Amino acid sequence: MSHTSTQVGAEHFQYLAQRTAGDDAFLVQLKAAAIQAGIPAIQVAPEQISLLAILLRLISAEQVVEVGTLAGYSAIGMARALPADARLLTIEYSPKHAEFAATWVAKSDVAQVVEVVQGSGQNILPTLPDDSIDAVFLDADKAGYPAYLREAMRFVRPGGLIMADNAFAFGQLFDEKPTDPEVGAVRAFNDFIPTIEGLKAVIVPIGDGLWVGVKE
Ligand SMILES: C[S@@+](CC[C@H](N)C(=O)[O-])C[C@H]1O[C@@H](n2cnc3c(N)ncnc32)[C@H](O)[C@@H]1O
Repeated sequence: MSHTSTQVGAEHFQYLAQRTAGDDAFLVQLKAAAIQAGIPAIQVAPEQISLLAILLRLISAEQVVEVGTLAGYSAIGMARALPADARLLTIEYSPKHAEFAATWVAKSDVAQVVEVVQGSGQNILPTLPDDSIDAVFLDADKAGYPAYLREAMRFVRPGGLIMADNAFAFGQLFDEKPTDPEVGAVRAFNDFIPTIEGLKAVIVPIGDGLWVGVKE
């Protein structure tokens, strides 16, 4: 059996995106309204939502935490994969983003599931009880990821998921002179994850690279 991998390029990304469910009318409206409100279009790709939703279903997730709400796109996408009595807590530092997201969550089909909390991951994650969460999705300040991961290893239950976006550093992972100030933090986090005992993780090359890990 060959161990040669296919080199995934832009064509593959386009190909798989075209074969994955896209946004429904509500999410299309949410994105347009976010741009109108001056919120940057830096949400995850629709195919990442598909993968997150499948993974949450596979582990029968009921308690989910997200760090980095932005406009609420990924929170709503993930919440749709959860049962009606589940809870998805999404943490957003920017008051403007949190208010926008809360407004759109309230209008969505998962208003009873999603709770938008304005605050920082640094302050809120330590308040979560041990082994109480089925899955966490990190999609916020990259310098904060190592501390978020350490916390996640405490509050995620055994068999739960720890996922983090932007492993490919906004497309600048291998740039000699990256322009994005967070590239260094992403590289450091990518090197840090494999050192964590009790976490089996892999980068899934969709969107901007999605770390998917299971806590043993
Ligand atoms: C890439 S966006 C999140 C996108 C969102 N997950 C989605 O796909 O729809 C990152 C968000 O993290 C927020 N953020 C930055 N630092 C944060 C922190 N320390 N705690 C919580 N949120 C933070 C930013 O304000 C921004 O809205």
